[in-house]
Amino acid sequence: MMAAKGENLLEVAVEGGVNIEHACGGVCACSTCHVYIESGMDQLSEAVEAEEDRVEEAPGLQRNSRLSCQCVVKGDGPIVVRVPAWNRNAVKEVPH
Ligand code: FES
Repeated sequence: MMAAKGENLLEVAVEGGVNIEHACGGVCACSTCHVYIESGMDQLSEAVEAEEDRVEEAPGLQRNSRLSCQCVVKGDGPIVVRVPAWNRNAVKEVPH
């Protein structure tokens, strides 16, 4: 998937047909857009306190947990994002 700088990972995923849950619409008021950043964390904006507080509510919290709507693409390098299994269950094929 290609991402432009300034896009957040939720937008990138949804544009690419990966429908990550995002109950609050990307305003850091839920934790359903939780993903794991497997590599390339340094290519993303750092988590602000609001995101850190919120992501703690997400099930399956890990050190590389982020809220995808709060991860703004900054760098050029590859970023590997893993969508947690419970969220993947909610992934829907976009109708063509
Ligand atoms: Fe709700 Fe990201 S969509 S916090």
